[in-house]
Amino acid sequence: MNVLVTGGAGYIGSHTCKELARHGYTPVSYDSLKYGHRQAVRWGPLIEDDIAATAKLHQVIVEHQIGAVIHFAALTSVAESMRRPNIYYQNNVAGTLSLLEAMQRAGVTQLVFSSSAATYGTPQTKLLAEDHPQAPVNPYGATKWMVERILQDYACAKDLSSVSLRYFNAAGADPDGELGEEHAPETHLIPLALAALQDGATPLTIFGDDYPTNDGTCVRDYVHVTDLAQAHVAALHHLQSAAEGGALAYNLGNGHGFSVKQVLDMVQHTTGRRVPYEVGPRRAGDPAVLVADSRKAQNELGWRPRHASLEHIVATAWRWYTGNRFHA
Ligand code: UFG
Repeated sequence: MNVLVTGGAGYIGSHTCKELARHGYTPVSYDSLKYGHRQAVRWGPLIEDDIAATAKLHQVIVEHQIGAVIHFAALTSVAESMRRPNIYYQNNVAGTLSLLEAMQRAGVTQLVFSSSAATYGTPQTKLLAEDHPQAPVNPYGATKWMVERILQDYACAKDLSSVSLRYFNAAGADPDGELGEEHAPETHLIPLALAALQDGATPLTIFGDDYPTNDGTCVRDYVHVTDLAQAHVAALHHLQSAAEGGALAYNLGNGHGFSVKQVLDMVQHTTGRRVPYEVGPRRAGDPAVLVADSRKAQNELGWRPRHASLEHIVATAWRWYTGNRFHA
């Protein structure tokens, strides 16, 4: 089956294309290449265009005989979304409506959606399960939750079956060294820590050490990008085997939280080098702790993270960083 992957040249999108190909699917990547990398598209064709181009999306779906869609294409920076909410609503919400319109016109009814733990906002429980209240604290999370709501309404109208996957902190790189994380500008902790270590001159800034956590820095649940990719294939299988449609949602994390300082310690342990850092003010929109309860994905999708250790996550990221990067 041919699967349309919007954002297929991006970080999680490209790892998912590799996993799709491994399972016998042909991924058809659709990416504006504003943020994605042409070199990351290796397991199927690439169509270069914007998610807003509904007619083009429709044409691609028809021409490539697409059976299902995995939708990554979105802006993803929490901090940027606080400064420029307009482009987040435009790309992430209006962009998804454009895709849904094209799918409807072409009669494609199965979608896996790239959602986020940022939909929950400030946790009221130690571990976040899917029924935790949704109260996003930044526009990025708000756009992801809005799309999930839209998918619920489309499911009620029997137009679409969907699975939303709420990622916690995607990290690491393809264990084979073929793909990895490369954002411009980079905002994520692990690649920035590796860059600070390599560069030596520019220290990493820790965004606040006065949070109510053990060492005062924010705690996150880091999940390996290849495990996330596998979850998309599992979600696709689930959609294909489900007797009835609906709009399902699953958390994807390992259930273990690591503080920013613990991540820096792991980087030192893995690389043998200390990450230079300074402590700055808090970053707007950052909850103190985000850790997943992912039992639902394990029980219903049969998802089994195989690369769960933080040591492995950092080691694969380091291997990518020091190896054949796209723009090294
Ligand atoms: N951090 C720093 N310094 C930096 C970069 C990050 O201290 O230079 C801290 C952040 O404050 C945060 C942690 O490191 O506490 C992780 O930050 P990232 O920017 O790597 O990731 P986020 O937690 O902000 O966001 C990620 C995804 C979102 C998702 C969220 C949910 O990018 O899409 O996880 O957990 F919504």
